[in-house]
Amino acid sequence: MLGREAAERFRDGGDEVDAPDADECDVTDPASVAASLDRSRPELVLHCAAYTAVDRAESEEALASKVNGEGSAVVARACRDRGILLVAYGSDYVFDGKGSRPWREDDPVAPLSAYGRSKLAGERAVVGSGCEHIFLRTQWLYGAHGRNFVFAILDRARRGEPLRVVDDQRGSPTWTRDLAEATRELVHAGARGLFHVANGGDCTWHDFASLVVAEALPGASPPARCSTADLALPARRPAYSVLDTSRYRAVTGKGLRDWKEAAREFLAGLREGGKK
Ligand SMILES: NC(=O)c1ccc[n+]([C@@H]2O[C@H](COP(=O)([O-])OP(=O)(O)OC[C@H]3O[C@@H](n4cnc5c(N)ncnc54)[C@H](OP(=O)(O)O)[C@@H]3O)[C@@H](O)[C@H]2O)c1
Repeated sequence: MLGREAAERFRDGGDEVDAPDADECDVTDPASVAASLDRSRPELVLHCAAYTAVDRAESEEALASKVNGEGSAVVARACRDRGILLVAYGSDYVFDGKGSRPWREDDPVAPLSAYGRSKLAGERAVVGSGCEHIFLRTQWLYGAHGRNFVFAILDRARRGEPLRVVDDQRGSPTWTRDLAEATRELVHAGARGLFHVANGGDCTWHDFASLVVAEALPGASPPARCSTADLALPARRPAYSVLDTSRYRAVTGKGLRDWKEAAREFLAGLREGGKK
């Protein structure tokens, strides 16, 4: 989802982009990563590959940690050895969600899930690799490419299936397009280090689903509320994972727009494109 969006945004910005998929460049295989880098000889690597099945990771922790932890170490070492700037992406799920103010970059991490632990391992691998890097923790992504919350809600609502959405987890829905643009901003600002990046404002998943249904399917029944405990999913999730993005604002001089404005533009684009 993010990889394809970022490739489009960087191409639109005039960059030459090589965007290998998992078959062409397996991040867990040092030879595959080396071959890919030596073929395209990039100035910048955006490491968007990941194991992202949050619930499945509870029963596949070794695989999640191989892709997200060791895979990120492989990419970071390969970039370090070639002097390439690396941009990599982390998750709000490194936090336990017990706070009540937005999480800062240096707040203590305490992942609740196997996925969160694997993302933390990847983050530590990049930060500790000695490679020049920009590391972006982000959250609640949606976008045009691939399965995501917005498409899942629209599919269920269109099929007339009842919608029950959790109202006790708070974060900031983030459009991959805005995240890709924010990545460009950080690169062009010469930033280095760890940044929290997400669309502005915050809400619950229920608020987000309600906006999606109201905008895309006017007249459809709004989603019902439920609690995280009601769903009894395998992975625990942070209750409060809003990210403090002031470091991003200080370095780029810009903030990301409010999540509602971004989501409305994304949904309008789907209508115009006839995609949904
Ligand atoms: N989605 C979110 O809400 C969210 C929130 C916070 C952070 N993030 C982070 O943001 C980044 C992008 O997420 P996303 O939602 O765009 O993920 P995504 O849509 O699941 O895409 C991940 C990609 O990684 C590929 N991949 C898996 N294993 C690989 C391997 N060994 N080598 C190379 N490629 C491999 C997958 O290929 P296949 O499909 O062929 O397996 C897929 O194309 C990830 O770091 C993710 O952890 C995402």
